[in-house]
Amino acid sequence: VPVVAVILAAGLGVRFDVDNPKQLVAVGGRPIVAWSIEAFESNPRVTDIVVVVNPRVRRTVEKIIMGSGYSKVRMTIQGGVERVDSTGAALQALSDSGLPSDAKVLIHDAVRPFVAQSSIDGCIDALGQFNAVTVAVPSTDTILFARDLGDRKVVRDVPDRANMFRAQTPQAFRFGTIRRAYAKAATDPGFHPTDDTRVVVDYLPEEPVAIVAGSETNLKITTTSDIPMAEWIARYEEA
Ligand code: C5P
Repeated sequence: VPVVAVILAAGLGVRFDVDNPKQLVAVGGRPIVAWSIEAFESNPRVTDIVVVVNPRVRRTVEKIIMGSGYSKVRMTIQGGVERVDSTGAALQALSDSGLPSDAKVLIHDAVRPFVAQSSIDGCIDALGQFNAVTVAVPSTDTILFARDLGDRKVVRDVPDRANMFRAQTPQAFRFGTIRRAYAKAATDPGFHPTDDTRVVVDYLPEEPVAIVAGSETNLKITTTSDIPMAEWIARYEEA
């Protein structure tokens, strides 16, 4: 079956530098989005890649794709206002292209340039047994579940750390499963999920989402303060 990577690169980076979208910033001499595409291009089990962009980054991303000679990138897709809209646009484009419902779809944040091959393989393998999987790492910090008390946050609960994970990407699904979850979510305009696992958990509650091992180097570049760490990892990755 097709194994499709969806690279989400349509964010405006409002927590970063609005004049310089973070997915285009170079680390280790290469734009962040190029690292992310390369991770899937170089995995022999991935058959196709689509990249979700916005009008501000489209030309630059297309130049990067042309200049790098990637053979698996099929199209760039216009994203939406929120991450959930960008994923939705990609799913619609894949549906229009006739992707079968048993295809494996790996949805990845372009701003996680150092995803490990073992995590990509782990997703593809786990989809043999599950319809939904997410990459995550066990939390070494104790997680505090907070609530509001006046203008302050106070601790509501301290969940057992052994069951606490930090979600990363890729998050991977059988195409039919993620399509169904998104179709249901579309009926709820107040729904603002920050990842795709949430869409499945909320709208297909009977569907188990398997956890696949991520890594601490699968850093999400969110603010400019993440760049020094990214440079450090880039140097280590190229060694
Ligand atoms: O905003 P956030 O940090 O959660 O973005 C995660 C990823 O989703 C980034 O790679 C970003 O480019 C992408 N994104 C998107 N479309 C949006 C918002 C975010 O493709 N509207």
